[in-house]
Amino acid sequence: MDNRSHFNRRDFIKFVGLGVGALAVPTLVVAEADDGFIDLRATKTAKKLAGSQSAQSDLWLYNGTSPGPEIRVKQGQTVRVRFTNELDEPTSVHWHGIRIVNAMDGVPGLTQDAVGPGETFEYIFDVPDAGTFWYHAHNRSWEQVALGLYGPLIVEEADPVFDRSHDLILMIDDWRLDENGVFDFASLGFMGDWSHAGRLGGWLTVNGQSQPTIKLALGESYRLRLINAANARIMFIDPSVISAEVIAYDGFPFAEPRAPQTPYEALLPAQRMDLLVTPTEKAVARLNDLSDFALTAFAGRESLSIAVFDVVESSGTQKAAASTTLPMNPIAQPDLENAMSVSLNMEGGAMGRMGRMMHNGMMMGPREMRRTGQFWSFNGVANFGDKPLFEAKKGQTIVLTTDNQTGWPHGIHLHGHHFQIIEHNGKTPKHFDWRDTFTIERDEQVKIAFVADNPGNWLLHCHMLEHSAAGMKTWFKVI
Ligand code: C2O
Ligand code: CU
Repeated sequence: MDNRSHFNRRDFIKFVGLGVGALAVPTLVVAEADDGFIDLRATKTAKKLAGSQSAQSDLWLYNGTSPGPEIRVKQGQTVRVRFTNELDEPTSVHWHGIRIVNAMDGVPGLTQDAVGPGETFEYIFDVPDAGTFWYHAHNRSWEQVALGLYGPLIVEEADPVFDRSHDLILMIDDWRLDENGVFDFASLGFMGDWSHAGRLGGWLTVNGQSQPTIKLALGESYRLRLINAANARIMFIDPSVISAEVIAYDGFPFAEPRAPQTPYEALLPAQRMDLLVTPTEKAVARLNDLSDFALTAFAGRESLSIAVFDVVESSGTQKAAASTTLPMNPIAQPDLENAMSVSLNMEGGAMGRMGRMMHNGMMMGPREMRRTGQFWSFNGVANFGDKPLFEAKKGQTIVLTTDNQTGWPHGIHLHGHHFQIIEHNGKTPKHFDWRDTFTIERDEQVKIAFVADNPGNWLLHCHMLEHSAAGMKTWFKVI
């Protein structure tokens, strides 16, 4: 159950277990706006998870589908969602990665009151950036996201490079099932997950289906939008198995397509990665060995197949894309010379420095941590207090120096802003990629920079949802 990412090529055992037969990746229901509003409902819905033999699981889904409907809009458009909570507990919707107006960010206690059972809330916001985003519940998310409350949010460029049949969403999740193949409810909120790697599950799905086949036509170019919707599982992905290039992280395109990192790309919870793939003759020649075309995720030593590729003859409708360079998003460049420096130290968790930390104004030792479920801290404080981590004037550049003194990797998400990684373990990276969620392994230091240009109160937390619930969150203020 070790979620660390120190793997080498030898551990990359290809595995294709097509237990349920080769099923295509399900296309998602696209949410339509009737009266200008998209209707989104959080509902209890029974669904079979582990194939047709298993019993139903009582999941919590948006509009009764897993994932929730694909919300697809144009860059610059105003999105209107009429959200209704049909659950028995309060919830909210967060639009992950959107540089959104604060009041619509969906964080109970910080930007809105949670939407109670039977209540409706209208989310109305503009989308400044084109790219791959997603939405998910943001109240008790360790429970609500685990039960299925998430969906993709795609913002199209003014002039999309790929038509709809060459623009594929792969929303990946892992589910923890019991011995009957039913969602393992009993282990929700298990403190061992909260203090360790978070809730991991062994049943992987893409768009709600286990090990689907992705059909690609020879010589045609595709954009694959990978979204990690898991609570805590890092997906280790090797796009080179299909000779894919990486074109965007977290919705923000690179200046040029790039060869994937070796031996894998680590896709942390909430992160997105867009791939560009154009299957060649050579790829077809390798078809006999299907395992070459599997996207695989790891956890410890196990290797789990996410999806399998099948390359078919082209019907000649679409050739390789003429240009695959995506337009840049309109974001302000950090002014590093005049930046305000902030540091963020991560402590706690099992096998780490389980020192003492503050929670609700009280100093806690290990026994209180177990009692309260607070195991992690930012700058010695679990689950933030009244004071923000920092307060910035609108337009101020922030350089945030983060130091992971825990025994675990984390994926840290900033709300309302994208940032650049400007230093990794004392080294300047080759590319200053824009991200909304960054990876930090144990004993690592990562420096990020961004212009705090979006007024409001914004959350900053680990997106391993158990870590966040167990203390790894704080907030900052832009005035
Ligand atoms: Cu994806 Cu605080 O959220
Ligand atoms: Cu974490």
